Amino acid sequence: MTFARRVTLAALAACAAGAAHAQDAKAGAAKAAACQECHGPNGNSPSAEFPVLAGQTARYLYLQLRDYKEGRRSAPTMQPFLQKLSREDMLDLAAYYAAQRALDTGFKVDAAKAARGKLKAEETLCTMCHLGGFKGQNEIPRVAGQHHDYVVKQLADFKAGRRTNDAGNMSAVSKTLSEQDMDDLAHYLAGLD
Ligand code: HEC
Ligand code: HEC
Repeated sequence: MTFARRVTLAALAACAAGAAHAQDAKAGAAKAAACQECHGPNGNSPSAEFPVLAGQTARYLYLQLRDYKEGRRSAPTMQPFLQKLSREDMLDLAAYYAAQRALDTGFKVDAAKAARGKLKAEETLCTMCHLGGFKGQNEIPRVAGQHHDYVVKQLADFKAGRRTNDAGNMSAVSKTLSEQDMDDLAHYLAGLD
């Protein structure tokens, strides 16, 4: 093989690797057609029952899909859609949703509740894990701009032990929260972008 040909092959291999990487999200876009009914276009779900997936961290999305599929977290209505997903499908879907932009959900934030929620978040050191502005990182979810009702449900589920796939991180924190705290926090979080 000539030197020039070897160089060309190496360049082609590098291109192919780059394309495969970029394709994860692209392949995910096609696979996401089945999710749109509940999670909305580009993961901006129109209903507070369904979490916004747009802009969520890819690592967290993948881990949740795996947990649902393997029965560590439950969502009965979503379950039929998850059973057919392979590991690659879940990685592609996670890459796709992580690359989408979260839009304003249009939720009307109550300023007094949000102010109390902000204080509670500071007192409880939520951002020690979720980072400033609740932007999240890796396996720690972004919660900024998430639907109010969905956030309240998750906090209550952690507290009651209905959601247990958090390695203890959220179950301990949620035990310290009253119903009012959860509502206040959800108002505060819904208003962050
Ligand atoms: C029939 C409605 C429905 C469909 C279709 C659906 N989901 Fe869901 N999804 C839900 C509900 C409801 C929840 C929240 C359940 C809970 O409270 O834990 C959820 C939660 C999630 C979460 C967790 C998000 C978080 O912030 O923790 C991910 C990730 C997810 N869905 C991805 C998908 C993907 C990918 C698809 C398509 C393959 C899909 N969903 C299809 C209803 C649906
Ligand atoms: C010790 C670290 C830690 C602290 C402190 C913490 N969290 Fe979390 N939180 C996590 C992790 C990790 C998860 C994801 C758990 C999983 O994988 O299921 C999570 C999940 C959540 C979720 C669910 C998000 C979703 O999309 O389903 C909400 C809501 C949340 N946290 C809010 C809060 C609030 C509000 C506080 C402060 C009152 C807080 N967290 C404090 C680590 C933490």
